[in-house]
Amino acid sequence: MKTTNQTAKKALITGASKGLGKEFAIQAAKRGYNLFLVALPNSNVHRLGKEIEDSYGVRVTSYESDLTDFAQIKELASKINESGNLDLLINNAGCGGSGEFEKSTLDYIDLVLNLNVKATALLTRLLIPALKKPNGRSHVLNISSMAAFSPIGYKHVYPASKAFLLSFTLGLRQEFKNAGIIFSSVHPGPMLTNSDTSRRIIQQGFMARFCTLNTPEIAAISLNSALKGKAVIIPGFGNHCLYHLMKQLPSEWVLGLVTRSVQKEISMYQTTPQFAF
Ligand SMILES: NC(=O)c1ccc[n+]([C@@H]2O[C@H](COP(=O)([O-])OP(=O)(O)OC[C@H]3O[C@@H](n4cnc5c(N)ncnc54)[C@H](OP(=O)(O)O)[C@@H]3O)[C@@H](O)[C@H]2O)c1
Repeated sequence: MKTTNQTAKKALITGASKGLGKEFAIQAAKRGYNLFLVALPNSNVHRLGKEIEDSYGVRVTSYESDLTDFAQIKELASKINESGNLDLLINNAGCGGSGEFEKSTLDYIDLVLNLNVKATALLTRLLIPALKKPNGRSHVLNISSMAAFSPIGYKHVYPASKAFLLSFTLGLRQEFKNAGIIFSSVHPGPMLTNSDTSRRIIQQGFMARFCTLNTPEIAAISLNSALKGKAVIIPGFGNHCLYHLMKQLPSEWVLGLVTRSVQKEISMYQTTPQFAF
């Protein structure tokens, strides 16, 4: 029988029940972190936590919290602060989609802004006491997206929310550089994490498929780079090529190209915005 290490480092991962968050949970456990996992009520987060405990001999505490609800963020943060120091915070929970802005529901826009922007800022702020350690260092990984590097028509609030995360991360990185908290921003390209996201990526054509990585690759690159202190992490060769190409081209060209690719996807399915990546 495996015993858990009471003095191990501790990591909190939001959106940990599936997709990239689940993979971060597995890989952090493999590195010996005790875990706090967060996902929505009625997700499989408790079962996943138990499986990770049994497989990797770490201690896992899972929480069912809706991070779009300020009261639930405060309750979660106070439980984490009460349990002592935190070594790693991964703000991974996020959502987005594609569709015409004028057809987007107010609930959809509100959800993207609340989860991607507000929840990340509030949770990070509330967890500063647990992250700030007198003689050590801790890491915060904010999961942004390649979409942070250009506005994209028909994605409206999603790229804007991910650009917020990049700016937020770099500002805090500077502010806390002498306080031992190292902030990193992660910019995955397409990931085949859920059926809606996968369908939309496949419809976006060659470039999206060229940049697609699986979640174990993205989690491994992100954790390795963040723990080495890298500020901006772009996982994968395809995404690196795309990033450098985007820097070379005039920004209006990039905006036109990426918008056309999303337009192609939505014209095939004529969807209203979906809650995915
Ligand atoms: N997929 C992509 O292609 C892609 C590309 C670039 C960046 N990203 C970013 O990477 C991150 C992970 O994406 P993913 O595709 O792995 O997501 P996903 O498979 O849709 O999983 C999202 C996770 O967030 C949780 N979650 C959703 N709403 C929540 C809320 N209100 N409160 C608490 N937890 C909530 C979900 O919990 P439940 O299980 O309870 O629903 C789930 O664990 C996101 O920030 C996304 O924007 C994704």
